[in-house]
Amino acid sequence: EKGTYPHFMLKEIDEQPFVIRNIIQKYQNDDGTVRLDENIREAMKSSDRIYIIAAGTSYHAGLVGKQLIEKIAGRPVEVHIASEFLYNMPLLSENPLFIFISQSGETADLRGVLVEVKEKGYKTLTVTNVPGSTLSREADFTLHTHAGPEIAVASTKAYTAQMAVLTILAVDTANSKGTKLDFDPIQELGIVASAMETLCDQKEKLEQIARDYLSTTRNCFFIGRAADYFVCLEGALKLKEISYIQAEGFAGGELKHGTIALIEDGTPVIAIATQEHVNLSIRGNVKEVAARGANPCIVSMEGLEHDGDAFVIPKVHEYLTSLVTVIPLQLISYYAALHRDCDVDKPRNLAKSVTVE
Ligand code: M6R
Repeated sequence: EKGTYPHFMLKEIDEQPFVIRNIIQKYQNDDGTVRLDENIREAMKSSDRIYIIAAGTSYHAGLVGKQLIEKIAGRPVEVHIASEFLYNMPLLSENPLFIFISQSGETADLRGVLVEVKEKGYKTLTVTNVPGSTLSREADFTLHTHAGPEIAVASTKAYTAQMAVLTILAVDTANSKGTKLDFDPIQELGIVASAMETLCDQKEKLEQIARDYLSTTRNCFFIGRAADYFVCLEGALKLKEISYIQAEGFAGGELKHGTIALIEDGTPVIAIATQEHVNLSIRGNVKEVAARGANPCIVSMEGLEHDGDAFVIPKVHEYLTSLVTVIPLQLISYYAALHRDCDVDKPRNLAKSVTVE
């Protein structure tokens, strides 16, 4: 039920801090160690390469998941769009582990891949919000994202939950290999939950940003570098699916290779700046688009902010910024859709789960 909320999407955005805390609780023992099925631990340990297969928002979570697993656990990961995988099958390693990320656990494109790789005898793990779902039943193992039912077509809390669970999987793999980490990712997830709360309390400011930048525009670009690029893809998907504004996410450095031709007077460009090592280069990209008339809106992180940034997120660990940065992007999309009188929870032409190929 929506309770006092006007839309499920807004309710589900607000639930994210709770979901992250819930995940920590579900996957952590009292002594701080990770609680995980021994078979999953073994499958992660014995595989020589991980293949993440997903679609839409779950694919975007997979891109972040790759970085988390590679950086925290030191295991090589590839991420593939489910509907492309069978047509563009990469050369597989000797001992692959396939991870299917799916909120619904029913997405047909993923099931096509699952059936095929099971036939080849490969190990499979589904990360899903619906443990009894088809992908969960048919895979060897399941990791539950514990986000609670997600009703709005636009995925919000399932995305952040997927990234949190992938963080835990990465930590467990690092621990089981005996890797010493110089930070505690699970504790950092707690900090993420608090940061999310702070952001959910800033709705008025984000509504104003949506009004200022997106009320009348036909298009919008999201630019970011490194980890911020992945959240740009998600920000753009969110905006287009519920507000019907044509939106694209780009790696900052790619602009000059073509996209900059689309910048006109007043084109909104939402730039994400949460990564210290690329902070100056993304700001350079902002100058380039501003010089061509764009209306830049910079979302940065505490400690990296510059004068004139439109919105600053609280500081969180650099590996986990996507979980936090996405909140203002979700809320900006929500308010943009509202101002344009769109059906926020049930956007046109879309279904909650895509069960046909
Ligand atoms: O249930 P799944 O996670 O497998 O769904 C994948 C996509 O269909 C889904 O994420 C879709 O992109 C959402 N509408 C995004 O908000």
